[in-house]
Amino acid sequence: MVDLSVDLLGMRLENPTVLASGILGVTKGSLKFCARHGAGAVVIKSITREPRKGHPPPIVCASGGGLLNAVGYSNPGYRHAMAEYEDLADVGVPVIGSFVAETAEEYAFLAEHFANHLEFDAVEIPLSCPHTPGYGELAGHSGTDITYEIVSALKASLRAPLIVKLSANLQDIGPVAKAAEDAGADAITAVNTLGPGTCFEAATGRRVLGFGFGGISGPPLKPVALKAVYDTFQAVTIPIIGTGGVSTGQDAVEMIMAGATAVGVGTAVVPRGVEVFRKICEEMKDLLAARGCSSLAEIRGKAHEKQLVQDLV
Ligand SMILES: Cc1cc2nc3c(=O)[nH]c(=O)nc-3n(C[C@H](O)[C@H](O)[C@H](O)COP(=O)(O)O)c2cc1C
Repeated sequence: MVDLSVDLLGMRLENPTVLASGILGVTKGSLKFCARHGAGAVVIKSITREPRKGHPPPIVCASGGGLLNAVGYSNPGYRHAMAEYEDLADVGVPVIGSFVAETAEEYAFLAEHFANHLEFDAVEIPLSCPHTPGYGELAGHSGTDITYEIVSALKASLRAPLIVKLSANLQDIGPVAKAAEDAGADAITAVNTLGPGTCFEAATGRRVLGFGFGGISGPPLKPVALKAVYDTFQAVTIPIIGTGGVSTGQDAVEMIMAGATAVGVGTAVVPRGVEVFRKICEEMKDLLAARGCSSLAEIRGKAHEKQLVQDLV
């Protein structure tokens, strides 16, 4: 019998799969839908202070075996979101809030006026979107000093545990993860989408996405995400939600071996359906049973043990 349950920041997850932000989590109903289909926890779509239309359509397209997206944080703003997420008790699994802001002060504002009034089990902030002017990477929010500044401001205001979502583009993610931990972050999500990248219509040469370029997610992101989790695990002691290209139980097992406590699942909902959470869990159970393991603790961080190739040299 394999037990997939994990403890993440005081939340007990029946299994390590976490619905990633921006994928289906736009209403309370859609959060419940994912919970019913086996997600261990869910993250809401990121909210901003004012309502945003986001980028012009098309905002998502298939590319390179994954997705390119330039949604641009379309959302109804925090006042509307307060009503949408008012009562979260019946979602059935832990709910992680998410918001994004242009400055450290605005982050603190959203903590006080939005997140602190709702029953989120934790809050995730993406300092890492690669395609939205004013936010994340395009606002220069993915460096060590600014990460420290934003996280410190938030920790002074926020009631719930804080998860900091880092960029897939960082050559050296360790120092940024450490800056977040030093400033009081309770966990790291590694990673957001990569890039940006782009694609064109073969017939016309016209760009496909309305914004012209977008973040890469799904299978093409997986090796980058896996290395980011591996490097983050070496740099910090706080838990990691390994996110990026997790589509199968094998992907999830690799993430946990790299050091993740839980695994984000986003793009895989497209090819495998919302049942993907349950499917990943069944596949993980089979893989663990085949190794003679009965819990995830037995494989967590395994990739950091001395490698065979190192033993030979
Ligand atoms: C359509 C789409 C919308 C997204 N919106 C958000 C968002 O609002 N906030 C955020 O933190 N991440 C957002 N992301 C990034 C995902 O949460 C996740 O980090 C990324 O897609 C990598 O995981 P995946 O390969 O499993 O999709 C979005 C991704 C996609 C594809």
